[in-house]
Amino acid sequence: MKPLLTLEMSQAIQKAANESRTTQSLLTIDQLSHNDIFTILDDAKCFSYSQKDWHLSQERLVANLFFEPSTRTHYSFISAEEQLGMKVANFNPMTSSQQKGESLSDTARTFEAIGYDALVIRHGDDDYYKELDQLSIPIINAGSGKAHHPTQCLLDLFTIYDEFHTIAGLNVLIVGDIKHSRVASSNITTLERLGANVKVSGPTELQKDGETRFEQLDNALEWADVVMMLRIQFERHEEVLSIEKEDYLTYYGLTKDRAARLKDHAIIMHPAPMNRGIEIDSDVVEFSKSRIFKQMENGVYTRKAILKYCLGESF
Ligand code: CP
Repeated sequence: MKPLLTLEMSQAIQKAANESRTTQSLLTIDQLSHNDIFTILDDAKCFSYSQKDWHLSQERLVANLFFEPSTRTHYSFISAEEQLGMKVANFNPMTSSQQKGESLSDTARTFEAIGYDALVIRHGDDDYYKELDQLSIPIINAGSGKAHHPTQCLLDLFTIYDEFHTIAGLNVLIVGDIKHSRVASSNITTLERLGANVKVSGPTELQKDGETRFEQLDNALEWADVVMMLRIQFERHEEVLSIEKEDYLTYYGLTKDRAARLKDHAIIMHPAPMNRGIEIDSDVVEFSKSRIFKQMENGVYTRKAILKYCLGESF
């Protein structure tokens, strides 16, 4: 009996299906609609239990290009990509033609020309992706300068949503180095867009100019459902802090005494890496209210959902 489909026909159908799949970049969190965000959060939930072993419909090549140091974002992307059945390359700028002066744009276009299907990029420039608009393959922004960290924002939203089953109406207190934090920039506007109430705290010299959400830490602890501590980014500071590093925890950090004043249901978050003993007491990291290592676990589920979204795949 003749097969219903010849090999050529089945390959042509697969090719047409692949071509009709809409891929898209994730450059900033603002580009995502309310619906897109909740689709990604729902998919992340599915990846955390019922779709653990789900693979992309075809093998795809992805390259991770990290021009700034990273542990969580880089390695959780590798984990997510491999769990989805992708072939993964990890680009090392130090052993690449970047050392011969090649531009980011030419490096990225090289990956596209040699057959890569998607790029995950972390870079020190706030808007590096603007020079990549000639590329047709999706780019996922894994952190850019002080401006954007959309995948961290989504995993933070997932952690909050998984805990409270809502974002709207929650009180979120973001504490620390707001001025230099791409996590704060991405999270504040998105949390407010989704209906959360946001306050910020920390040294005034580490707040953005004209900040109207500011509250003293000790006045806001009982108000918060979520306390999101941020790393003090000493490496980005141009200004001198008004207090010594050794005094930071006492004045602005989440000490054990401050953590004891939080609501029973409140959770403590931190995108990490942490300066234990500076913005957060090391013991508080291990408190039952802390979701800091849970955030890292959630990073894998969320990044699987982001890859699924950017590659136009469906369950
Ligand atoms: N939270 C975060 O972006 O951590 P890494 O710098 O280790 O990726």
